Amino acid sequence: MISIKNVSKSYNQKNKIINNLNLEIKNGEIFGFLGPNGAGKTTTIKMITGILEIDQGEILINKINIEKNPIEAKKQFGFVPDNPDMFLKLKGIEYLNFMADVYEVSSEDRKKRIEELATLFEIKNELNNKIQSYSHGMRQKIIIIGSLLHKPNNWIIDEPMTGLDPKATYELKNIMRQLANQNKTVFFSTHILDVAEKLCDRIGIINKGKLIFVGTLEEMRKELKENNSLEELYMEITKND
Ligand SMILES: Nc1ncnc2c1ncn2[C@@H]1O[C@H](COP(=O)(O)OP(=O)(O)OP(=O)(O)O)[C@@H](O)[C@H]1O
Ligand SMILES: [Mg+2]
Repeated sequence: MISIKNVSKSYNQKNKIINNLNLEIKNGEIFGFLGPNGAGKTTTIKMITGILEIDQGEILINKINIEKNPIEAKKQFGFVPDNPDMFLKLKGIEYLNFMADVYEVSSEDRKKRIEELATLFEIKNELNNKIQSYSHGMRQKIIIIGSLLHKPNNWIIDEPMTGLDPKATYELKNIMRQLANQNKTVFFSTHILDVAEKLCDRIGIINKGKLIFVGTLEEMRKELKENNSLEELYMEITKND
C-alpha cells in the first residue's frame, strides 16, 4: 500500500511542480499513473521512492514513512526508474548479485530467481557481459529483474514498457497481474493507453502537478457520460486543463 498525503514539490521557488497530491494505492491493485509529458509523474515517483525530498506532506509505504524511516520503507518496494542507464561497468550477473546483497536475498533464493527471471526475459546468455554492451531494452530487462529479486510488496515502475520487445512486455504484464493477485501493489506510469485500459484496476491522471481524475475506467465513463475508449476519455479529460 502506498499513501501520498498532501504532497507538494517545487524545483525552484516559483512554481509548484506537484500541488497538494493525495493518492492511496491499495493492496491487490494495479494502478496506472497517466498524464502529459512534464505533468509530474516521475517527480511523484521519485518522492515515493525517496530519491527526491518532499517539500510538504508525507508518503507512507506499507505505513512506513519514506523520509522518517527510509531504509525500512525502501525494503517495502522494488523500483524500476525511467532511465535504465546505470551500473554500466558491471556485468549483468554482478548487478543482480549486488541487488540481491542490498536486499539480503539468500544465495539459494537469488540463484533460483535469477535463473527464472533471466529465462523469462530471454537475457540469460547476456548475464556475463557488461551492461554497457546491452541495448536499451536489455538494460531495461536487467533493471526489472533486479527490482524483483526480493519479491517486493510494492512494485513501482516508471514507464516500464518503453523499449521492451513484445514477449518481454507480455511477461511484464503477467508479473504485474501476479503481484496484484498476491495482494501486492503495482504502481506504474505509462503513455500507452491501450495497455492501461486493459491492465489497470484504477487509473490516476495528473496534469500540471494536479490530480485531475482518479478511479476506475467505468467511473471515468460515468463522469464524462460517454462510453468511449480510455484514449478518447483521456483526450477529453486533459483537454481544457
Ligand atoms: N531536476 C529538475 N529540475 C528542474 N525542473 C525539473 C526537474 N525534473 C523535472 N522538472 C520539471 O518538473 C516537471 C515535471 O517533470 P516530470 O519528469 O515529473 O514529468 P513526467 O510526468 O514524468 O513527464 P514524462 O511523461 O515526460 O516522463 C516538468 O515541468 C519538468 O520540466
Ligand atoms: Mg516521467
